[in-house]
Amino acid sequence: MNIEKRFPKKRVVITGAGSGLGRALALEFAKKTWNIAVADINGERSRETVAMIDKEGGAGLAIRCDVTDPDDFIKAVALLNKEWNGVDILVNNAGVAAAGYFEKIPLETWEWILDINLKSIIYGCRAFIPLFKEQGRGHIVNVASNAGIACLPEMGCYNVTKAAVISASETIRTELAPFDIGVTVVCPTFFKTNLMDQFSSPDERQRMLAEKFFERSKTSAETVARHVIKCMEKNRFRVITQADGRFVWWAKRHFPEAYFKIASYIYRKGILDKYLGLDQN
Ligand SMILES: NC(=O)c1ccc[n+]([C@@H]2O[C@H](COP(=O)([O-])OP(=O)(O)OC[C@H]3O[C@@H](n4cnc5c(N)ncnc54)[C@H](O)[C@@H]3O)[C@@H](O)[C@H]2O)c1
Repeated sequence: MNIEKRFPKKRVVITGAGSGLGRALALEFAKKTWNIAVADINGERSRETVAMIDKEGGAGLAIRCDVTDPDDFIKAVALLNKEWNGVDILVNNAGVAAAGYFEKIPLETWEWILDINLKSIIYGCRAFIPLFKEQGRGHIVNVASNAGIACLPEMGCYNVTKAAVISASETIRTELAPFDIGVTVVCPTFFKTNLMDQFSSPDERQRMLAEKFFERSKTSAETVARHVIKCMEKNRFRVITQADGRFVWWAKRHFPEAYFKIASYIYRKGILDKYLGLDQN
């Protein structure tokens, strides 16, 4: 169904919309003349997004929101109720990346990434679900990652947060169905954004690996954003935006033992390093 038919008041709040996928989603909604709340910790980038939204034909509103603070979500609900008299779609998009050999990832990094990538989703859902239930409608989009499915080596802390986001989304997809609240979980593979700005890893190797993956990606944030909105219109649950990600999902589901055997072989032989050109550095 056309998304405007489902939500004629056209009100969406997007965390982390100061950059990357969040911004691209905001601009796609702007082209459809939506009201868009840009909820980001970075005020300057939020204001930039709002200016871009206004240019594209939407109505932007910057909200200072640190997704690691549950009170910021509660304040956002109150503010948006006052400004818009409700909200139709919550996009839990803000996220960061880190990597490392499992036993070497510092505990501080685990805390940091769990707070931003996972707990933020819990806080966002806790704050907005009561409003959506009261309204009798709403849609939650949780941005996970194909990392939560593929679980590539040396990315343990990121993988764990994204797998948990998929699990949380699966739970509420069913739990919220009686209330006409849709849930979509987005699982892209690599696409170019500013995600490396805050990236951390104990060894330089993982930074180089991640940079190579980003370099090789032919997908833009805009392509991912358009795909997500199309899937939301169909009320699709799991959105795997790129073909390589869909292949991993299919292979792991149908041939789980073979998947790990092949993945371990590729890793042991350094085939991925060679493919990425890492061994030439
Ligand atoms: N880029 C990729 O290849 C890729 C692949 C799969 C999934 N993702 C996911 O997409 C989402 C968006 O990432 P992106 O690639 O656009 O990165 P990005 O760095 O370009 O954007 C992330 C945004 O989140 C904001 N943010 C960070 N910490 C925050 C906090 N505490 N509170 C509020 N906002 C905060 C940043 O200010 C930034 O505007 C993330 O959840 C990421 O894990 C990205």
